[in-house]
Amino acid sequence: MSKVPALNKERRFPLNMTSAHELILKAKNGVKGNKTSGRYALPAFNVTTYQGIDAAVGAFETLGSSGVLAFSNSALKHFGYGDAIKGLERVHEYVKLVARDSSVKIATHLDHGDYISEGGRKVLQAAVSTLTSVMADNSTDHKNKKATSLEMNIEATREVVEMAHPLGVSVEGELGVLAGVEDEDTHSEVSTYTDPQELKVFLEKTGCLLLAPTIGTMHGPNKGKPGDVVKLNIELAHECLKIANSINEDIVFVAHGASTLYPQVVEHAMAQLKEMGAISDAANTWRDFVGTDWKQIEGLIGAGFCKINTDTENRQTYLASLLAAIKQGPAKIDIRFFEKATYEGLYKSYMQKLIMAGNYGVWHEPKIDVNSFKFEL
Ligand code: 13P
Repeated sequence: MSKVPALNKERRFPLNMTSAHELILKAKNGVKGNKTSGRYALPAFNVTTYQGIDAAVGAFETLGSSGVLAFSNSALKHFGYGDAIKGLERVHEYVKLVARDSSVKIATHLDHGDYISEGGRKVLQAAVSTLTSVMADNSTDHKNKKATSLEMNIEATREVVEMAHPLGVSVEGELGVLAGVEDEDTHSEVSTYTDPQELKVFLEKTGCLLLAPTIGTMHGPNKGKPGDVVKLNIELAHECLKIANSINEDIVFVAHGASTLYPQVVEHAMAQLKEMGAISDAANTWRDFVGTDWKQIEGLIGAGFCKINTDTENRQTYLASLLAAIKQGPAKIDIRFFEKATYEGLYKSYMQKLIMAGNYGVWHEPKIDVNSFKFEL
């Protein structure tokens, strides 16, 4: 087998944009400005609207954070009104414009791209020439709802690395199957842990620098039974880190399903529903949501999981903020009123996770006192 191409670090992306790997490696090594401190993590925010992009970038700029904006296939379809490729072009142009005036560095990442299905291959190829980072989730054949063989996963991921690395675009692979509902195209009922022996072979043969091992996290709002504390396999995470570091210390891990969910958001939403007289099934749904325990995520960050994927909790914040705005102005004939409320909610939700992950003061000092920040809606 020929040598896999190394990530081209000379590639210059549009102003203030860079590969996700460059930013995440800084976090693994604890680099902020020209100082080195403790390890921190980059929450990769799944954005599905222009407002989401603006709110996330607003939070990065307030805190001086490194930013990853993640786009799933279905988000791209949404941006492109059904056409993911058109969606890619639009978000690329939009983020380029926003980044140009930014005080921080931003990466754009394709979340759960695949190189197995025909549609997935097309989007991935287009993403390699527009975004700064891509995920090649080839561990599951989502269309046929089954895990792929290690050989097939390696072959498909390696092809993506060969295409992306010369262009300076980092590649995230996945090994193991993650349970839960990510979006309409990406869901699985079962979950398997990553096998450390397979991890070694996968990393050596694919050359990818970002990897999502499966260690017990789940996508979606129901990560356990109400009252449960979701337990992750931190021991396995450390075993994986040892193996990865022995191959290449630049390899960084990714935790999918890292939404912790915020009790104050749930209470806020339920209070709105109650006052609107809608406290029946919807309220019970809110009550049943269970996120990943933050202490467990901190354990993962310690094991080199420096990209933590966060979607569900921000969707919740959006909805809670919208419910409050509707309750406050049920007959307000003004889109801006509702947009302002959801922007504010998202902005605060993003700031909260960036602060929890220690991702602030990377590109400049935060513009607020992070110790006294309180996430309230
Ligand atoms: P959550 O569902 O926990 O937000 O995870 C999102 C995710 O992993 C996207 O890839």
